[in-house]
Amino acid sequence: MKEGNGVKKAIDAASSELNLADEGSKADKYYRGFIALSRVSAAISGLHELDAILKIGLDNVLNIMNGAVGGIMLLDEPSQTLFYRVYHGLSDKYAEEMRLKLGEGIAGKVAQSGRAVLLEDISSEPSAARIDLIGSEGLRAFISVPLRAKDNVLGVMNVASRVPHHFSKEDVHILHSIGDQLGTAIEQAMLQERLRKARERLRKLARQNLVAEEEERRRIARELHDETSQSLSGIALQLEALVEMAAKSSNQDAQFIDGLKKVQSLTVQVHKEVSRVIANLHPTVLDTLGLVAAVRQHAKNTLQPLNINVTIEVKGTERRFPADVEAALFRVIQGSIGNIAEHSKARNASIVLVYQPDEFSLSISDDGQGFDVSKLTDVEASGRGRGLFSMRERIGSLGGTSGVESKIGAGTTVWAKIPMGQDIRYGENKGTGS
Ligand SMILES: Nc1ncnc2c1ncn2[C@@H]1O[C@H](COP(=O)(O)OP(=O)(O)OP(=O)(O)O)[C@@H](O)[C@H]1O
Ligand SMILES: [Mg+2]
Repeated sequence: MKEGNGVKKAIDAASSELNLADEGSKADKYYRGFIALSRVSAAISGLHELDAILKIGLDNVLNIMNGAVGGIMLLDEPSQTLFYRVYHGLSDKYAEEMRLKLGEGIAGKVAQSGRAVLLEDISSEPSAARIDLIGSEGLRAFISVPLRAKDNVLGVMNVASRVPHHFSKEDVHILHSIGDQLGTAIEQAMLQERLRKARERLRKLARQNLVAEEEERRRIARELHDETSQSLSGIALQLEALVEMAAKSSNQDAQFIDGLKKVQSLTVQVHKEVSRVIANLHPTVLDTLGLVAAVRQHAKNTLQPLNINVTIEVKGTERRFPADVEAALFRVIQGSIGNIAEHSKARNASIVLVYQPDEFSLSISDDGQGFDVSKLTDVEASGRGRGLFSMRERIGSLGGTSGVESKIGAGTTVWAKIPMGQDIRYGENKGTGS
């Protein structure tokens, strides 16, 4: 390599200028170190997954330390214990049993002090822990360097040799630099992992909230139907009978009959209103006749009064899905219909429901004013964005994917696809959504 030779020459020149003893071999080591460092750096750059970073980092280090074995121990913060996360050339038993408290043994001391240790023969080192394991593993020369990120020690990298071997101070320097580089990468990967877990938790929570909300709606709808709505229809019937009785009786007080009629029509109106609320909370038709009937009813009731022409097309043969799946699908469609009514200024809307053996898909389009989807990245404080966010979560919890496409002046399309195979079981973490 041209560049590599240049660097080697520069290091050679620097070391001869400093008049170092054994300059040739030192320059060689620094050169190898430089190459190792840039190799590790290139290998781990762009990697985000902790295990991949550790494994590739270790492999590269062992590659330049001919014939060496070793591993990376990470510090478990809560228990303040070091344990092997990746290793190469060491037995599983050694790696599993070698767990060291901070300050314990060589690696524990390195992690505690943040300073590297170089030993010619660890098997005869009095301060080494688990000398039994070290003996049966046959380890002799040993280097342990801290993996640091700023002032934090996140773990240690141990490199050992089974044959008598003289690791040099230059080896320690090289490993130290690589350790610092790995430390920073490990810290970043750990942060990423924490972020991913936090996101996952949040997503799980959001999905649980949606399920809880649906159950609550169903419960309120049932109670309203069984009690309030039934009572109101009873009162309306009674009032109707009273109006008839009063009309037939000798008491021809017109004001009284008028009043009675008003109360009766008011009751009928309230009853209708309660039925509308119940249908919005949880349409009974969804349970009795299924998704297509519920969508048809809801779309017509919502859009026709606004003079928005709506067509509903069903492809394939409709079949029933579990109640919670139908409820989630209905909510998605209801949200989109609500958006058309509220925001689109459309004249026409189209709903397409496609039943395939192993997939259900839907698309809801309008020819309205459209909007800039890229500007809607979050649920705003006003609640704007909650509808589309919930839609994505609901579809995601069914293991499906969904999207919104819109262009200013050219309408909006909401689509979703959900796998519907026989053995699909819907759960918290099924899909990612999109
Ligand atoms: N079909 C549509 N036509 C035009 N704009 C739309 C359409 N659908 C959504 N939007 C825009 O996207 C925004 C977000 O929609 P979303 O359903 O997430 O929230 P919202 O309708 O404002 O509130 P919510 O649904 O919680 O009542 C809307 O405020 C609107 O600006
Ligand atoms: Mg909405």
